[in-house]
Amino acid sequence: MTDPDLANIQQKALGDVLAAGTLAELEEARVAHTGRRSPLAVILAGIGGLPPERRGVVGKTANAARRAVEQALTERTGVLEAEEMGAALERDATDVTLPGDLPPLGALHPITQVRREMEDILLGLGYRVADGPEVETEWHNFTALNTPEGHPARSSSDTFFIEGRPDRMLRTQTSPVQVREMLTRTPPIYLVAPGVVYRRDDIDATHSPMFHQMEGLAVDEGLTMAHLKGTMLHFFRELLGSEREILLQPHFFPFTEPSVDVQVSYIDKAGRSAWLELAGAGMVDPNVLEYCGIDSERYTGFAFGCGLDRIAMIRFGVPDLRLFFENDLRFLEQFS
Ligand code: PHE
Repeated sequence: MTDPDLANIQQKALGDVLAAGTLAELEEARVAHTGRRSPLAVILAGIGGLPPERRGVVGKTANAARRAVEQALTERTGVLEAEEMGAALERDATDVTLPGDLPPLGALHPITQVRREMEDILLGLGYRVADGPEVETEWHNFTALNTPEGHPARSSSDTFFIEGRPDRMLRTQTSPVQVREMLTRTPPIYLVAPGVVYRRDDIDATHSPMFHQMEGLAVDEGLTMAHLKGTMLHFFRELLGSEREILLQPHFFPFTEPSVDVQVSYIDKAGRSAWLELAGAGMVDPNVLEYCGIDSERYTGFAFGCGLDRIAMIRFGVPDLRLFFENDLRFLEQFS
């Protein structure tokens, strides 16, 4: 065995390693040049049989050749792995410039839009948004609101009661939120409580057994009817336009005294001015304050309630209440 032989073996091995274009080809080169039957391995295994004076030089050269080949294998492995990784990434790459499938964008329901506007107007006056349950007790919905047993609103032809729970019902108005808040807070109280209410009614263009109301309540020292009127005027002008006028007409609600209907001016299609009845309101009856543990000698309050659906119909010129609840996209998309 001569040194040129070893030099040739090493050169051939290094050449094959560099020429390997894939990890599989490189593995073939590894087996061929460093495997047990490779020329290098054979030389290294045969060193013991050489004459003593040759062993040192052949062993040194052969070991150097093996190290060189192994190092080349390691380097080439790194290169090929990186290349294959890069190729895999490229293969799997997503073309982000292709137009995608856009998910259809939703929009706020017209009732929600009106509700938020109304909340915003009252939040601007320092009111707070309050909430209450839709399944109410008769006590909160009627008794505490000065609506005694035997009142027609309490009859089962007007109200949905809960089977097996004779004291539970679907609230017929948002007014029980007044009671809940007055029971748990001390004045001054300024709150607005939007929500769903239920009454037994046949469905037609202006009636639904489920509809929306917004309640307002103010309890403080020195509140008068003038504050109620000023608040209503501001509220409806902000909501429906600054040219609106309001008219308070005597009415009756069990839990306010005196009570009024709030009418708002509007010009009909023929150019005639008319009045629209848009809210019920009044001074909180002292009985209700006392029911809720508030000193009616010290505090007075006013309350108002209006139907959201009715106002949304006027606001958007929607002729039929049912359109709000049918969830027909052709209708709803007009509000996005
Ligand atoms: N809750 C009354 C109704 O549903 C409206 C109202 C609220 C009246 C607050 C006066 C004060 O008709």
